[in-house]
Amino acid sequence: MGPILEISDLKKLARKRVPKLFFDYADSGSYTESTYRANESDFAKIKLRQRVLVDMSGRTLETTMIGEKVKMPVALSPTGLTGMQHADGEMLAAKAAEEFGVPFTLSTMSICSIEDVASVTKRPFWFQLYVMRDRDFVVNLIERARAAGCSALVLTADLQLLGQRHKDIRNSLAAPPKLTPKHLYQMAIRPRWCWNMLQTNRRTFRNIHGHAKNVTDLSSLHSWTAEQFDPKLSWADVEWIKKQWGGKLIIKGILDVEDAKMAAETGADAIIVSNHGGRQLDGAHSSIAMLPRIVDAVGDRIEVHLDGGIRSGQDVLKAVALGAKGTYIGRPFLYGLGAMGQAGVTKALEIIAKEMDITMALCGKRQLADVDKSIIAEYPF
Ligand SMILES: Cc1cc2nc3c(=O)[nH]c(=O)nc-3n(C[C@H](O)[C@H](O)[C@H](O)COP(=O)(O)O)c2cc1C
Repeated sequence: MGPILEISDLKKLARKRVPKLFFDYADSGSYTESTYRANESDFAKIKLRQRVLVDMSGRTLETTMIGEKVKMPVALSPTGLTGMQHADGEMLAAKAAEEFGVPFTLSTMSICSIEDVASVTKRPFWFQLYVMRDRDFVVNLIERARAAGCSALVLTADLQLLGQRHKDIRNSLAAPPKLTPKHLYQMAIRPRWCWNMLQTNRRTFRNIHGHAKNVTDLSSLHSWTAEQFDPKLSWADVEWIKKQWGGKLIIKGILDVEDAKMAAETGADAIIVSNHGGRQLDGAHSSIAMLPRIVDAVGDRIEVHLDGGIRSGQDVLKAVALGAKGTYIGRPFLYGLGAMGQAGVTKALEIIAKEMDITMALCGKRQLADVDKSIIAEYPF
C-alpha cells in the first residue's frame, strides 16, 4: 500500500487487518443504508468559495466545545465494541485523542471499561450513556463516570430500540466472537489482530459484565443487553438523568427541529445533530442536511454539534460554516484503529486537521472563529 493520505486509505487498510465481522460492524448502516450513504454524499453538495490574495499566515483551528479547549472542533464519537476493531481499542483511541488535544467519548457498550480508560488517561474524557431499563445500573454507571472524572455525559436519545443492520445478522456478530468455523476462519486470516487480542483479557462488555445485576457469565450478558434498551425512554427521563449527573450534558441523536427545541428546553449544554451514523432510521435525512434548520431554530440557545459522514477536514469546515460548534468522527477513527492501532487514530486526526487547515486558508480565513456561512458558495438544503 502507498502512503496514507486520506481517511479512505485507512479504511482500505482496516479492511485488510480486521476480521470481516467487525469491519462490517463499523462499515454498515440500517436496512438499505441510504441514510448512511447520504451522510457522506451530502457533504459533497456543499460548494466552498475560493478566495485569493488575503493574508493566510498564523492560522489556528483551536476553539472550544462545551467550554473545553480543543485543538480542533472534532471529538471521537462513542462507538460500541471498539475493542474488537483492535485489542484494547478504547484505551488506545482515548490516548490518541488526549495526545492530540480533542475529546474522546467512551460508549456504554464499549469493551474497555470506564475504569480501564481512566487508568491510561490523565485528562477527563466524556462518557456516553444508554439508558437501560435497570435504573440502578444506570445510576451506578453515572457514579462510575463521575468517579473516573468524566467531564461530560453524552446521552444517546436515538436508540430506544436497535435499527436492523443486515450485515451483523448475516455475520452472527457477538463479543467475544462465536467460535464457529466461519468466525475462526475470519480471525485466522488476520494473524496480527489475533496476536494483539491474545495479549489482552478485555474481550467483552466490561462496563456491564460484573456490574449489572444477574450478569455473571456471557450468556446472561447477551440476554441482558438484548432486553435492556428502554423503549419507554422520554423527555421526563432526561430531567432525571440531568439531576443524577449534575454536570455537563450533551444530548445525542437529534435530527428534527421540534426535538431540538425540546432538547434546548432541558437546559442541556449541547445537542448532537445525528442519525447514529445511518444505523437507526434508514430513509431519514443526512445530518448535514438538517444542520442549518436546527441551528436556525435553537443555535442561539444551545451549542449545536454534528456527527455523521465526516470523512475529511473539508467536511468539518463545512459543518462549522453551517453553524456547528463542534463535530464528531466515528468510522474515520475506527478505520484508523483497525488499520494501525493508536498510531492509526492519530493519523486520522492528523489527516483531518491538515485538510481543515489548508481548506480554511484557501477560503481566505485564518481562524476557526472567523469561519461562517461566508465561506460557502452554495448548498442545497
Ligand atoms: C461501529 C459503530 C458503533 C457505534 N456505537 C455507538 C454507541 O455505542 N453509542 C452511540 O451513542 N453511538 C454509537 N454509534 C454512532 C456514533 O456515535 C456516531 O453517531 C456515528 O458513528 C457518526 O457517524 P460516522 O461514523 O459517519 O462518523 C456507533 C457508530 C458506529 C459506526
